[in-house]
Amino acid sequence: MKKYTQVFQGTAFSSKSPEEVQILKDHLFCINADGMIERAVAPEDADYEALLDLYQGEDNFHRLADGQYFLPGFVDLHVHAPQWAQAGTALDIPLYDWLNTYTFPIESKFSDLGFAKNIYQDVVSTLLANGTTTALYFATVHKEASVLLAKLCAEKGQRGLVGKVVMDNIEQTPEYYRDADTQTALADTEEFILAVKELAKSTKQGVYPVVTPRFIPSCTDDALKGLGKLAEKYDAYVQSHCSESDWEHGYVQDRFHKNDAFALHDFGLLRDKSVMAHCNFLNDDDAALFAETGTAVSHCPISNAYFANSVIPIAHLHSKGVEIGLGSDISGGFSPSLFDNARQAVISSRMLEDGVNTALPADERGVPHSRITINEAFYFATAGGGESLSLPIGRLTENYAWDVQIIDTALPSAKLPIYDSNEDLHDVFQKIMYLVRPENIREVWVQGEKVHSRV
Ligand code: GUN
Ligand code: FE
Repeated sequence: MKKYTQVFQGTAFSSKSPEEVQILKDHLFCINADGMIERAVAPEDADYEALLDLYQGEDNFHRLADGQYFLPGFVDLHVHAPQWAQAGTALDIPLYDWLNTYTFPIESKFSDLGFAKNIYQDVVSTLLANGTTTALYFATVHKEASVLLAKLCAEKGQRGLVGKVVMDNIEQTPEYYRDADTQTALADTEEFILAVKELAKSTKQGVYPVVTPRFIPSCTDDALKGLGKLAEKYDAYVQSHCSESDWEHGYVQDRFHKNDAFALHDFGLLRDKSVMAHCNFLNDDDAALFAETGTAVSHCPISNAYFANSVIPIAHLHSKGVEIGLGSDISGGFSPSLFDNARQAVISSRMLEDGVNTALPADERGVPHSRITINEAFYFATAGGGESLSLPIGRLTENYAWDVQIIDTALPSAKLPIYDSNEDLHDVFQKIMYLVRPENIREVWVQGEKVHSRV
């Protein structure tokens, strides 16, 4: 009897550990009706041939062509969906000015559901086309438009974790863009949570509500306290920005006389399902608190180059046991691609290790042991993101979701430089990570469903 909904045959890359990529050569991936990988079968396994005989030639059998490979879908741990409308602009001003002169004005327009729909449709489709199968989104302060974003993720087949943003501190938010008051912010958040939980009941790949204080400056103590309670009541995800820039880190020091991590923890906002963006200024005590509470760091390397006044010591944080994933931070980061962000994560880490000021002698210039490899960046974009969200995603192995991107390295218009049909597959993997463009991503599947195709 044929029991699998789909069977795929091809070579896949998946993280074995943060440092090591596993090559699953010519495997069969047997997908069940829930869109999970029920079996991953190697050619040397006893029933490989029998399974091939059974499924080959059927409509639900998919064999990759020569030059094509499976990668896990990417998990983007930090996207501002409304900021897609301004991606690539205003990257030459500091965070505070960028928020007040560009970002708050554009986000305020999402009170208009028609305007919101246009941009939200595009951002979800664009991320899928870039291989992002799961995204952790900030929407805006508007409850209805935030629910709309969750609905569009559900419709388009992306696994969306969506937050209605809370901004109720009148000292740090403009009059035209803030919650009406603290009570309204909390009531809207609770209604939003309930609406997304309802939507989730009919969404195969999952949609999830996220408690979302924008960052400490935007929120009053009462709002932060109330949001911590809501996170506990609904066992909900939490996201925010944490210790991002000199200005923001300093603001929290002035207000609470402690770092963001401990301030957020005081309000019950550091939990196993918490993901904090940036975290460039985390010290070792902050990192220990993250590791203890299961809070993950969303590393946003492109955005950090513009707004964070620093390179995050990501290798050091990882060595302290902190969970780490990768974030595009659209539009602090201009690129919707986690390939681009993985590349930048490696480049930034190399610059931190070697240092940048040639007026200093080489042995004083950098921070030793700061580099990460492309394998580690890949891990952050996939399995690390999945672990950060405590979801079975980001690995192509049994009991994980069938969330994949099919990469074509032989596409005539974007051919990767592979000239030896027996090239070492570790080298092929590195070429994919460094050279793939969106057109090489031929298909994207989420939870066993095809959600994007270029064919
Ligand atoms: N801090 C508060 N809001 C934002 C935002 O929209 N982007 C970034 N990068 N940092 C923030
Ligand atoms: Fe951000």
